[in-house]
Amino acid sequence: QYPEFVKIVEVGPRDGLQNEKEIVPTGIKIQLIDMLSRTGLPVIEATSFVSAKWVPQMADHTDVLRGIQRTPHVQYPVLTPNMQGFQDAVAAGATEVAVFGSASETFSKKNINCSIDESMLRFEEVINSAKERHIPVRGYVSCALGCPHEGNIEPSKVAEVAKRLYDMGCYEISLGDTIGVGTPGSMLKMLQRVMKEVPANALAVHCHDTYGQALPNILTALQMGVCVVDSAVAGLGGCPYAQGSSGNVSTEDVLYMLSGMGIETGVNLAKVMEAGDFICGALSRQTNSRVAQARGRT
Ligand code: HMG
Ligand code: MG
Repeated sequence: QYPEFVKIVEVGPRDGLQNEKEIVPTGIKIQLIDMLSRTGLPVIEATSFVSAKWVPQMADHTDVLRGIQRTPHVQYPVLTPNMQGFQDAVAAGATEVAVFGSASETFSKKNINCSIDESMLRFEEVINSAKERHIPVRGYVSCALGCPHEGNIEPSKVAEVAKRLYDMGCYEISLGDTIGVGTPGSMLKMLQRVMKEVPANALAVHCHDTYGQALPNILTALQMGVCVVDSAVAGLGGCPYAQGSSGNVSTEDVLYMLSGMGIETGVNLAKVMEAGDFICGALSRQTNSRVAQARGRT
């Protein structure tokens, strides 16, 4: 049976925009987040406190976080790969952060320039400092269903990294199909293994839609008791260190599926589509959301 309520974690302003070649003006990012804040979304990942040399698009992290109008009961997590990122995020007013590890050794090195073991040491420092300040920390495991460099990733490796993050104190572990290669078959096997280490109610799925498998993969995760889904308005995005990966599953498409199943989210699809129209207009591009396309949005 399916959960009655699914929490949607909107990652468009971060995962969606980080890969854009043209720098998106800070004001546009702020306006996008402010529009999303009025849709009923409970969580909006706002930006990343990463190196501007590595990800120029997120260089305005402080201005974005300071510029948005925070809506009560909405969380605005930001990515923090290390203590420098964490300190900068706290200085900018972050009240929730996320660390991002990988189940692939090669991807870890290419994405955050350190091994998995080194990353865990860095995350432990971040998590401990966050605990002192009562700042909740979310944890990502990238390459949970495949790696752009190593190909297949063993579910046991995903489970190991997820457990380490959970044991260190991450309240929720988001399992990332970074390059969107998973299928319901691999999602099932991976989750069965991960759920031996981390309870289902502390797991989220983060699906990219490269191979068009994101919705069936999400459905599989829901059947297994996962009730947190990451998605991006208009299906924006992709990871700059995962070549060939496309955007996240679109928030609109997830909402349409869930509402058809009678699952509550508290999110207003029409308002999300308005935010999608806005950002697609600002980027002069078509939406990747099939629902938005079907409703005549371009
Ligand atoms: P590094 O070069 O190894 O860092 O980068 P370092 O500690 O050796 O320091 C080198 C320089 O970077 C120094 O500056 C530091 O101050 C600076 P310099 O002295 O040369 O002028 N530095 C920083 N600057 C700003 N913010 C920081 C920071 N830390 C050090 N936090 C680092 C390590 C992690 C910073 C770098 O590799 C990086 O920024 N990587 C970007 C990773 C990223 O943003 N990837 C995309 C997000 S992950 C993703 O999309 C996947 C996900 O969606 C899930 C999924 O889909 O599976 C989450
Ligand atoms: Mg991602």
